[in-house]
Amino acid sequence: MFKVLQNEMHVPNIHLLVVEAPEVAREIKPGQFVIVRPSEEGERIPLNVSDWDREAGTLTIFFMNAGSSTDLLASVEAGSEIPTVVGPLGRETEIEKYGTVLLVGGCYGIGSIYPIARALKDQGNNVVTIIEGRSSYLIFWEDRLAEVSDQLIVITRDGTKGLKGHISRLPEIVSTLDTPVDRMIINGCTHLLKRGSDASRPLGIKTIVSLNPIMIDGTGMCGVCRVTVGSETKFACVDGPDFDGHEVDWAELRQRRRTYITEEVVPTRTSRCEEHAASRRDG
Ligand SMILES: Cc1cc2nc3c(=O)[nH]c(=O)nc-3n(C[C@H](O)[C@H](O)[C@H](O)COP(=O)(O)OP(=O)(O)OC[C@H]3O[C@@H](n4cnc5c(N)ncnc54)[C@H](O)[C@@H]3O)c2cc1C
Ligand code: FES
Repeated sequence: MFKVLQNEMHVPNIHLLVVEAPEVAREIKPGQFVIVRPSEEGERIPLNVSDWDREAGTLTIFFMNAGSSTDLLASVEAGSEIPTVVGPLGRETEIEKYGTVLLVGGCYGIGSIYPIARALKDQGNNVVTIIEGRSSYLIFWEDRLAEVSDQLIVITRDGTKGLKGHISRLPEIVSTLDTPVDRMIINGCTHLLKRGSDASRPLGIKTIVSLNPIMIDGTGMCGVCRVTVGSETKFACVDGPDFDGHEVDWAELRQRRRTYITEEVVPTRTSRCEEHAASRRDG
């Protein structure tokens, strides 16, 4: 069993989980993920790790309350235990001295780019970090990211903080930098990964994305996380999750991520709507 030390909403709908998992904390590297189960009957949830303390044996994870399993995870109280934290899984992000690296994070990816930024900085790269959210209230960890970045740029869809818009403003951002960009790395939701890859392709910037297809075992056995990259079939859990964003078959990925939408998302949304309607009726 794994003790939950902290579990609270950090910004709307994104939760910060700190859990004791000493063996994983000892081995984890930037870009790797874990699979968590909030209860014995619960589904397996793949989650990136945003920080760790090797001495204390803890992992820090940001998760979005996206459906029934993450909703259950959000309900776990600090001080209680969860049955599964498996990892580290997947390959670590390739960290070398590239020169100037643009690191892009949105949603939970604002957290999970942190250890990547730290490792790139340790290797002597010029790290330009871009964090993106719908509005200023969804932006977090600015201070922490600023500590491990040479420049931090914030983009909000509604312009309430930093630049207004989204990552499609990449050409303007690149034109303001003093040096050419040697690599871009993106973590976050599939929209951001694709949009960032589309924006960097005409600029000729090699772009690595951390893919998040549906996963079950996370060890290459079930085939559920199959993705096509450069017309080759890959299993994101063992061959990734990092892949070249210019080679990913995004249409197939989008289609496969929607496989269980009728069973998973629609019932959750419907029951939340019913709860909301009932509370308005009763109140
Ligand atoms: C390698 C990897 C790392 C991830 N890291 C994070 C993270 O750090 N923080 C975070 O909030 N989310 C992360 N995700 C996504 C997260 O796993 C899903 O949001 C979660 O499993 C949804 O479960 P649910 O039952 O709550 O939602 P559901 O109702 O099942 O689905 C909601 C949405 O999540 C997608 N989804 C469902 N099951 C999975 C699954 N097993 N794997 C991936 N996507 C799924 C569905 O396609 C749907 O779009 C990651 C996914 C992968 C593959
Ligand atoms: S999750 Fe089963 S093969 Fe990747």
